[in-house]
Amino acid sequence: MAILVTGATGNIGRKVVDQLVLRGATDIRALTVDPAKAALPAGVEAVRGSLRRPGTLPAAFEGVDRMYLASIHHGVDEVVEFARAAGVRHIVDLSGEPDSWWGAIARAVEGSGIAWTHLWPGDFMENTGMWAQQIRATGAVREPDPGAGSTPIAMDDIAAVAAVALIEEGHRGRAYELTGPEKLSRAELVREIAAALGRTIDFVRVTPEETVRALRPAMGDNAQWYVDNVLVGLDEHTLPPNRVVEEIVGRPATTFAQWAARYATEFFGEAGSRGR
Ligand SMILES: NC(=O)c1ccc[n+]([C@@H]2O[C@H](COP(=O)([O-])OP(=O)(O)OC[C@H]3O[C@@H](n4cnc5c(N)ncnc54)[C@H](OP(=O)(O)O)[C@@H]3O)[C@@H](O)[C@H]2O)c1
Repeated sequence: MAILVTGATGNIGRKVVDQLVLRGATDIRALTVDPAKAALPAGVEAVRGSLRRPGTLPAAFEGVDRMYLASIHHGVDEVVEFARAAGVRHIVDLSGEPDSWWGAIARAVEGSGIAWTHLWPGDFMENTGMWAQQIRATGAVREPDPGAGSTPIAMDDIAAVAAVALIEEGHRGRAYELTGPEKLSRAELVREIAAALGRTIDFVRVTPEETVRALRPAMGDNAQWYVDNVLVGLDEHTLPPNRVVEEIVGRPATTFAQWAARYATEFFGEAGSRGR
């Protein structure tokens, strides 16, 4: 029986494929709109399709007993109904607490009657990529509160947890709140990025309105949502660092310094391809 990874050209989905391969899983199927772009490892079966096009799902679900469900905001009920009808027995989903922005995913998966493992991450290290445009253009990051902190997690670690939950026993019926290994202020994040790039990046304290203006070229209309829902009150809705990644994956979670050493050039360098 196959393991299906949905959103396999997405950021975390693509990493879930890699983490499954790394752990020796066989019979991995990747659902992707563009198999060429996914650049999948040898031996992984690419199925052309998308969570956004439910008509493509019955064929993709054939012979699947476990799946990684990427975060989708619309149509999740239909997706899990197709999964149930196809005989899928375990869904590992990227979602959030029932009353959160991503709670509908967790509720739909639980409502399907299929066994589930919920992955509930906090801030992603990759979210700092929203600063890439202003770092390149101005050499600075503009935000209201340099001392506000979060416990960002690397997408590689979320994907590793997803892979372990899919292939090892003992994770069904568990909701995992996933954090990085340390709480870091916004100013500390900027300092780590600067250190990894070997350059100076200023932190400029501005109003929330100016923060939205600074982020708009990179994020468009999402800038306002981000400032209102994530940045304002960041300390209060940040989970303290926990050891869930380490307990499940069997190695310490990636620190932000390690993440920056690996990805800063890709995200924030002059010729970077990933940051926004
Ligand atoms: N605490 C958190 O920050 C938190 C918690 C849970 C979830 N999330 C969400 O997780 C996502 C980040 O993960 P990621 O970077 O791996 O995601 P991503 O690459 O943006 O998307 C993953 C896949 O989900 C599908 N998808 C994306 N947007 C969709 C939409 N509007 N409607 C239907 N399907 C959609 C696509 O699948 P197809 O290729 O099949 O179309 C895509 O490949 C963000 O969307 C974030 O909001 C965040």
